[in-house]
Amino acid sequence: MSAPLKVALLGCGVVGSSVARALVDNGDDLAARVGARLELIGIAVRRPDRPRPDVPVDPGLFTSDADTLVRSADVVIEVIGGIDPARELILTAMKHGASVVTANKALLAEDGPTLYAAAAEHGVDLYYEAAVAGAIPIVRPMRESLVGDDVHRVLGIVNGTTNFVLDKMDTTGAGFAETVEQAQALGYAEADPTADVEGFDAAAKAAILASLAFHTRVASDQVHREGITEVSAADVRAAREMDSVVKLLAICELLRDESGTPSGVSVRVHPAMIPRSHPLASVRDAYNAVFVEAAAAGELMFYGPGAGGDPTSSAVLGDVVAVARHRLAGGHGPVESAYADLPVVSMGDAATRYHISLAVADRPGVLAQVAGAFADNGVSIETVRQRVLEDGASRAELVVVTHRAPDAALRATVDALTGLETVDEVVSWMRVEGA
Ligand SMILES: NC(=O)c1ccc[n+]([C@@H]2O[C@H](COP(=O)([O-])OP(=O)(O)OC[C@H]3O[C@@H](n4cnc5c(N)ncnc54)[C@H](OP(=O)(O)O)[C@@H]3O)[C@@H](O)[C@H]2O)c1
Repeated sequence: MSAPLKVALLGCGVVGSSVARALVDNGDDLAARVGARLELIGIAVRRPDRPRPDVPVDPGLFTSDADTLVRSADVVIEVIGGIDPARELILTAMKHGASVVTANKALLAEDGPTLYAAAAEHGVDLYYEAAVAGAIPIVRPMRESLVGDDVHRVLGIVNGTTNFVLDKMDTTGAGFAETVEQAQALGYAEADPTADVEGFDAAAKAAILASLAFHTRVASDQVHREGITEVSAADVRAAREMDSVVKLLAICELLRDESGTPSGVSVRVHPAMIPRSHPLASVRDAYNAVFVEAAAAGELMFYGPGAGGDPTSSAVLGDVVAVARHRLAGGHGPVESAYADLPVVSMGDAATRYHISLAVADRPGVLAQVAGAFADNGVSIETVRQRVLEDGASRAELVVVTHRAPDAALRATVDALTGLETVDEVVSWMRVEGA
């Protein structure tokens, strides 16, 4: 056994309290796996005097002085969240020689390169498995296991709250608002669900996944983001009729020019229909999954709990053991890989497919007019289905599914359809993925 390694824990909330318990309860096993004891030297919190009966440590370890604590640690675990003071604390910790394990997706997606640069400058580790999809090992597979392959697409269900809401809308037929209320009552959604339902949380994770997959810096403000607040019961029903489900997807795609050379990356978060036969369609309740397509490996799916104290602590502890082993061996793990430096393309240039449901007049020539709107915008139709509506008003429903086309062309088509005299209403439109 080597001399103990000093571990500082920043934050003791949902994740931090599980991490503290695991450090204490599994201390002997962790020591055996690392080759040195992990000695918890302090826990920084906002309110150090608050009783924390579920955290079995000496109450004297709690402090509000995180800045002093990080200066004497070998390993700092940051589970405070947010940008400040987490960023300054991590940078101070690294400056004083500590390796850092963090679960902070918001900070990594906003300012990851600064953290990476500090880690490289000071020769320490920056690990963040828990920042994407909780317990699911996905950061290390992307950073290490798949680094010899060419990843060209990542599709993720990376937000449990929105998956819970969309899954319940699918199984009950209920609308968005009442389903969110149900999710709040069951503890699956925050009192203010904005970060989840508007896609901010998923966008941060998409930025991290795209950066890793494509060796290119992607920040959260470069991610096209649409949440699920506009998803209606009619959209979910339309998906059912197509034997599909609606999911909020984090999509990271490598784009290539005519010669096959990588030319850019598309990174986006939006609701999309996926066929029920796709592996991601089977991800129910608040579970997460990440579906990766790589040149040699083919299709891989990583699945599991995406949040919660204990599941997330599993990812944090895995990182702690990894960085602790590196310290004993005198090395460090992977540094930032951003050599490809590809541009992030705008949403208008992303290639997607659309499902569009229209209420139209049931008379000759309508189909030709509708088809003309697609052709005028360079969008090729894959299938059209027509159903006469039983409302006695000579109306029909047209359901059109397109081939892949630039998103801008598809949006222009929807605008053109809205302006057609024979189209009463564009009932729903949604992007189609995974088919
Ligand atoms: N919750 C999850 O399921 C989950 C899953 C994956 C990743 N994450 C990430 O993990 C991180 C922590 O999330 P959480 O849910 O555990 O948060 P949380 O329950 O709100 O806990 C935050 C902790 O940070 C402490 N804190 C807040 N401001 C502080 C400051 N200025 N100085 C020192 N301590 C401060 C709080 O102290 P007090 O206890 O005194 O208030 C609390 O202990 C976030 O980055 C989050 O995105 C969370």
